[in-house]
Amino acid sequence: MLSAVERKIEQFIADLNDKEISGLYAQLPHGKRLRAKLILKIAGNSLLVVKTAAIVEMIHAASLLHDDVIDDAYTRRAKPSLNALYGNKTAIMLGDILYSKGFLELNNISPDVAKMISNAVVELSLGELKDVSLSQTFNLDKEVYLEMIYQKTASLMEASAGAAALLAGKSKEAYMTYGRNLGIAFQMIDDLLDITADAATLGKPALHDFEEGKTTLPYIYLYEVLDREEKEKLRSMHAKNLSEKEQLWIKMKMREHQVIQKSYEEAKVLIVEAIALMNDRGEDALSSIAMQMIERDF
Ligand code: IPE
Ligand code: IPE
Ligand code: MG
Ligand code: MG
Ligand code: MG
Repeated sequence: MLSAVERKIEQFIADLNDKEISGLYAQLPHGKRLRAKLILKIAGNSLLVVKTAAIVEMIHAASLLHDDVIDDAYTRRAKPSLNALYGNKTAIMLGDILYSKGFLELNNISPDVAKMISNAVVELSLGELKDVSLSQTFNLDKEVYLEMIYQKTASLMEASAGAAALLAGKSKEAYMTYGRNLGIAFQMIDDLLDITADAATLGKPALHDFEEGKTTLPYIYLYEVLDREEKEKLRSMHAKNLSEKEQLWIKMKMREHQVIQKSYEEAKVLIVEAIALMNDRGEDALSSIAMQMIERDF
């Protein structure tokens, strides 16, 4: 019952009893609520579960408010981001308020759940920091990239699934692996979409990641196969605004060496593993959530 989660978030915001915050929050477009969906599918829809899902979505929204400041991103959920509309200061403060209210409410769930979710937010923040530090270099280390996306994206999905399992009295290991795999694959696909989707579909400018200095998986694979001159050319474009011609060159080389396909296959392996884990447990709804992820348009 996602609508119960929406109502709970609205109630948490109303608790703050601040018109300015209510006004700002009302302007944030809702996302896909993927993390809430995972929690409800694992643990049902008791009040405690709905509250946990609402808290996780508030925390996730906070992380996106901060992320758009960090990434100089002016579009979010196909609309102008809050930092684009009201500036960085407002976006950061609304993020702080959503994080803090989320943590406050976690105290009313259970110590185990609170610990699991807050620990994931520490990981998420460390991951965001690592993402920024890496973007100041031309990172070509795949393991470092994988660790970073685990921290910034998969840790919260892993914890959401784990917390839901705790609430449902299910053994948490398989659910956490499921959330972790889903999260890593999800970020890999998000990184692919930054290259393959046009700006209109994406709701944000394409190739923005590389312009921001981010060498996501297809760039790492591409660099491996380029000749010396081409390697230099790619390096020279790193962390700069790209001309139309440069964008086309990158996309052409990626097509030539099929690095998008290679990265996509890697995401798919993780999803297939996640589906198998859930099939073993008769968790059909969770299998199909994972399935939909690899059917995403890219
Ligand atoms: C966006 O997450 C950030 C990434 C981890 C890539 P979602 O795509 O789940 O965001 P919303 O909530 O649906 O907008
Ligand atoms: C995910 O990274 C952001 C968080 C986990 C907070 P991105 O920076 O790639 O996400 P998008 O592309 O802005 O949604
Ligand atoms: Mg971003
Ligand atoms: Mg980011
Ligand atoms: Mg992205």
